Amino acid sequence: MWKKLFNSSQEKSEIKKELSILESLDPAKLPRHVAIIMDGNGRWAQGQGMVRTAGHAAGEKTLREIVRTASRLHIEALTVYAFSTENWKRPHTEVDFLMKLFSEALAKEIGEMDKENVRIGFIGRISELSPKLQEEFAKAVERTKNNTGVKFNLAINYGGQDEIVRAMQKMAIKVQAGELSPQDITPEMVDDELDTAGLPPVDLVIRTSGDIRVSNFLLWQAAYAEYYFTETNWPDFTPEEFGEALAEFASRERRFGGLKK
Ligand code: FPP
Repeated sequence: MWKKLFNSSQEKSEIKKELSILESLDPAKLPRHVAIIMDGNGRWAQGQGMVRTAGHAAGEKTLREIVRTASRLHIEALTVYAFSTENWKRPHTEVDFLMKLFSEALAKEIGEMDKENVRIGFIGRISELSPKLQEEFAKAVERTKNNTGVKFNLAINYGGQDEIVRAMQKMAIKVQAGELSPQDITPEMVDDELDTAGLPPVDLVIRTSGDIRVSNFLLWQAAYAEYYFTETNWPDFTPEEFGEALAEFASRERRFGGLKK
């Protein structure tokens, strides 16, 4: 059944390992929207006697593989936590390294992602990043905006509470202008004011590196998400383990507050 999803024998052999895990799955049970908290880069690097930033560089390679896999599995949306509103508290050298990594990785990968039909987006307070980075992000969005494959969103300078506050501010302005009555506000209207407007709700959140917490990621969108926690540090997370997370998701019974069918 899965084999039909891949266009050529070359594609099939490239993702042979993923196929071996996924071919037993029911494609109808794939999540539409996967979100990932890519944790453990620092621990991975320190465990190998390297500086923390080496872990981020390794994490970028992992991310490339996971985007490619999500694209080939025809997952509709993939959103990754690359930099939180709290990450500014880290040493300047690490923050600078990450900003440079975002810029360089984008420059390096944009051609390949465009070829893979990936549509790139950014969520978070992007307007507070350097003008150069904002321009690069805008160009990537523009270049890939007509692509119809996986919607790949990078959460940068992102916080879930901050995103909800910004959405409330936008709605309050409409109320103040007399365009909206408070009692008419619906969950769908809130959806439309979030940075993720137009994306499906999050079905599956993956968090690497052992911590079992949500860390202010997609608080509204993940209201009914399933969670997959793994001890694996992000640089060691493979397409095969991504497949295991998808298999685990497929085995969960989702009731959305209702009763067992
Ligand atoms: C969390 O690990 C990781 C981050 C804060 C940065 C995530 C960034 C990447 C994976 C690079 C992505 C690259 C692009 C182009 C988006 P941590 O540093 O908190 O690790 P620790 O918990 O072990 O300290």
